Amino acid sequence: NQAVDYWGSHQAGVITPDTKEAIFVTFNVTTREKAQLQQLLQLISQRIAYLTRPQQLTTGKNDQLPPVESGLLGHNLSPDSLTITVAVGASLFDQRFGLAKHKPKKLIPMPRFPNDRLEKNWCGGDLSIQFCANSRESVIYALRDLISHCNKLMVPVWKMDGFLPARDIDRHSTAINLFGFKDGTGNAPITDSKLMDELVWVTANNHEPAWCLGGSYQAIRLIRFNLEFWDRTPLEDQENDFGRYKISGAPIGMQHEMDDPQMNLDPHGDRILFDSHMRRAEPRIPERHVAKLRRRSFSYSLGILPSGQLDMGLIFVAYQNDLKKGFIDTQNRLNGEPLERYIKPFGGGFFFVLPGMARENDYLGKQLL
Ligand code: HEM
Repeated sequence: NQAVDYWGSHQAGVITPDTKEAIFVTFNVTTREKAQLQQLLQLISQRIAYLTRPQQLTTGKNDQLPPVESGLLGHNLSPDSLTITVAVGASLFDQRFGLAKHKPKKLIPMPRFPNDRLEKNWCGGDLSIQFCANSRESVIYALRDLISHCNKLMVPVWKMDGFLPARDIDRHSTAINLFGFKDGTGNAPITDSKLMDELVWVTANNHEPAWCLGGSYQAIRLIRFNLEFWDRTPLEDQENDFGRYKISGAPIGMQHEMDDPQMNLDPHGDRILFDSHMRRAEPRIPERHVAKLRRRSFSYSLGILPSGQLDMGLIFVAYQNDLKKGFIDTQNRLNGEPLERYIKPFGGGFFFVLPGMARENDYLGKQLL
């Protein structure tokens, strides 16, 4: 019954340790009035404060009305490390609310990258809400609660459920994705708060509007895997595509998962191919001062595609204080990588994570509105 504090200068759920379950969902705001947008963000903030703490549930006495706690989970609400993280899309800064001049400088609608086949009903949204917890029922309950309280002011656009292997989370080992590879080894460590300020959180160094301080850019990419093809691919090719061994997660030619390859000792790409995912994603060239991306991805599993193939893949998520230096430049280095034979991005969006509620009575977006 663990509870994660929702308040602080940053929102929870960005550099909080990985959880077993997640829901990513976006909404369009239905009002055109700024005062009602403010009301919506206040309402969302109140629900976050309520849902992320243990509660005794009440059923309500009037059996002629819907019960207050309609998706009741017994008598107690245990958050199970629930975090709810709210971010805003570029569309919120259109003419509706007069917020254009306050738009975070790097916030743009997600463009199409060369290997993308974007589907409109899986893209964008005015608001992105990420729910993370260690049980599925917790994230579902929180989503239903939020919708039942806020549905006069926002409508859902798309929703994707994510998961990570429970045994990896329980053991605090790197989570394995649906390709069977450890995913997160080279991730920037959340324990390094100086690095998190350099990479993830907007600070005065980023020259953003003052209200953005403490926020972060969120890049979400829904990426379908061609698993039937992958499962027929020889191990050597699979490992070369990533530049790491499948079982140990070690860089090719090395022993341990956390061994960091000195690319200068492999200048011709004999061991870790130049085209491998890890070398393209992070070439480790000395000019790159900040050399990491902070990822928070989950696997997804839906139904069967019209082709008869499994609809499974990755909800790729990255948080950064500079969308260009972070996700966009990394994706541009990855364009054309051999791994593209097995993956097809079809949705997602770019958003800006609102700064946290610094005091208990604050609400998300107060600095913006
Ligand atoms: C590393 C999987 C998409 C950025 C890795 C690793 C795996 C992996 C297995 C090696 C282990 C690790 O360091 O975490 C995948 C899969 C993807 C995908 C299956 C999609 C289908 C992306 C995208 C980006 C990205 C879209 C960013 C644009 C990175 C970075 C690293 C990495 C920065 C760390 C490289 C390093 O420092 O060694 N990925 N990835 N990945 N990936 Fe991805």
